[in-house]
Amino acid sequence: MTMQSDLAAALNAQINHEFSGAYVYLGISAYFESLDLNGFASWMRAQSDEERAHGMRIFDHLSERDVPITLGNLQKVQTEYDSVNAAVAAGLALEQETTQKLNALWAQAVEFGDYQAKALLDWFVNEQTEEEDLLRTLLSHVKIAGNEGAALLILNRELAER
Ligand code: FEO
Repeated sequence: MTMQSDLAAALNAQINHEFSGAYVYLGISAYFESLDLNGFASWMRAQSDEERAHGMRIFDHLSERDVPITLGNLQKVQTEYDSVNAAVAAGLALEQETTQKLNALWAQAVEFGDYQAKALLDWFVNEQTEEEDLLRTLLSHVKIAGNEGAALLILNRELAER
């Protein structure tokens, strides 16, 4: 079926949000590189790659349904944070914002009776449960480590294994 234009616009906006998210995570990764916390940096880079893949999932869906694709601007992002805690918290805040956007998109797809888009968005809504949990757990571990350098370095080594 032909996609309703408001839904097409919202899905195009979500491509931009996912790519913007990739950029945010890359900024967080750059911050960790500056601290020589290479495990944290590579973990955040993997998150960045995932966001780009998410954007491409929507890109492919629109392409397969012959919906015109629009690619908007990417904003400049932070590459400096006040602390390890603040940088990881920024990742969690991004995921929470992403969940809200995807929930709204899911509701829009249902409202328009677009069950092909709904099926695509089912995957995204499920994925957000895991994404939020990952970031929330990492933030908890960072808080437990606190200012203990040794604990932070152990965590850094674990994150390098992702
Ligand atoms: Fe595209 Fe981390 O969710």
